[in-house]
Amino acid sequence: MEPKKKNAMAVTLVLGILGVSLLIASFATDNWVTSSPVLQRSTQTPGNDTDGSATKYTGNITFGLFRGHRVLDYGIGPRPQDINVVCSGSDGVCAWSNSSDSAKRADYIKRVVKFVNINKTNGTVKDLIEYGLFNFGLWVSTIVMLALGIVWGLVSLGFTAFNVVGKPIETITGPAGLYLWNGLACTFSLLGALLFVGLFTKDLSSNVLPKDDVEVGWVSKDRTKLDYSFYFVVGAVLSFIASNVILLVSGQKLSCSYNRAGEKELDNGMILY
Ligand SMILES: *[C@@H]1O[C@H](CO)[C@@H](O)[C@H](O)[C@H]1NC(C)=O
Ligand SMILES: *[C@@H]1O[C@H](CO)[C@@H](O)[C@H](O)[C@H]1NC(C)=O
Repeated sequence: MEPKKKNAMAVTLVLGILGVSLLIASFATDNWVTSSPVLQRSTQTPGNDTDGSATKYTGNITFGLFRGHRVLDYGIGPRPQDINVVCSGSDGVCAWSNSSDSAKRADYIKRVVKFVNINKTNGTVKDLIEYGLFNFGLWVSTIVMLALGIVWGLVSLGFTAFNVVGKPIETITGPAGLYLWNGLACTFSLLGALLFVGLFTKDLSSNVLPKDDVEVGWVSKDRTKLDYSFYFVVGAVLSFIASNVILLVSGQKLSCSYNRAGEKELDNGMILY
């Protein structure tokens, strides 16, 4: 391989490592979403709700794909708690639970779904979201897509390393294959990011608080945003795209031509082994 192409391949390798690292970091960090809810006591003490900023209690919530942390001030000082995701596949919903009791956590979704079905005539998805539930399918498919992004990213890394140090001759292991592996890593990461944006805009941006807090008067609507763990995925997508652009610019053939150089390398290979 020409030095120019070899250098491009090395850059591709670095970008691939960056992409996979960012995807892993997005799983490992719990800052996908940040929210700063407020306690609006309008239902409890009518009269001093909207303008009395001194009586306004606030909180902070951050979470990742599986767990998170929250600090809410109910008026008796900040109360830190860990939160965990709980899901009910049969109901098609997940929720963030601040209960440290796993039996209570498991029961939580059933309780909310039952409450909405009984107490809201024609309980809708919107009612469920109001009580802190979110779409199970979108959540699971986000995780699956990102996991596949990591898998294809690792495959791409493996073959890129092989192309840098080795003398690949077969198409799928050679430079042409790299477009495919990179492309797959990019596509799945992008799908993961888009699914999460869907989940965020549809459900999470409306409410991230559990039923008990909603009933007391906590509100997180318009106070929730995507945070850096999510942007790690965006960074990974860009890395995989940059990888392919560099391969293309450096003149790696997209098509799989079986040329003379390949034959020669094959001969060398036969002599060597
Ligand atoms: C939430 O975060 C803000 C900004 O970092 C901080 O001023 C506030 O005190 C925090 N609230 C609680 C309840 O910890
Ligand atoms: C329905 O609402 C009433 C009053 O708000 C409450 O007492 C009852 O427990 C609720 N039902 C369920 C299933 O939660």
